Amino acid sequence: MQINSLKDMYIAELQELASVERQLSDSLPRMAEMATHPTLKNAFVRHRKETEVQQERLESILEKHGASPTAHTDQSMQALVDETEKMASMLKGDGLCDAGLIASAQRLEHYEIAAYGTAAALAGQLNLREDQEILHESLEEEKHADALLTKLAKSEVNPAAVAS
Ligand SMILES: [Fe+2]
Repeated sequence: MQINSLKDMYIAELQELASVERQLSDSLPRMAEMATHPTLKNAFVRHRKETEVQQERLESILEKHGASPTAHTDQSMQALVDETEKMASMLKGDGLCDAGLIASAQRLEHYEIAAYGTAAALAGQLNLREDQEILHESLEEEKHADALLTKLAKSEVNPAAVAS
């Protein structure tokens, strides 16, 4: 695909995000399975539901613009997801594995936060206010998921890893 305009760039960003959410949606159940702390398990299961809604939002925006939601595979996300699962399988001990999962999940969240921030800013520049609002909603959810992981790491999971 040739990118000749800001609108094309915006669509390409959305297609990458759709791929990011698809990959995360596939990976989160595996991450939930690997997690041992019940609160962490729960957080992954809950974020999967959120991820599915975010995925639907992206699909409906893309369809509105006549663009395919499956046109791209985001390779950076592929690498991040591979690393997450590889790292988690290397960490021996429940506390350590949970701490590693949180660290990786936060990396994934930060990647999403950056991508949604860019997409929302482009929507704003293109005067697509409705898109911008929807993207902001997902952005806020990602920030919230990230903050929750930080809280969980500090309060429960990392102290358990130190003790193990
Ligand atoms: Fe997401």
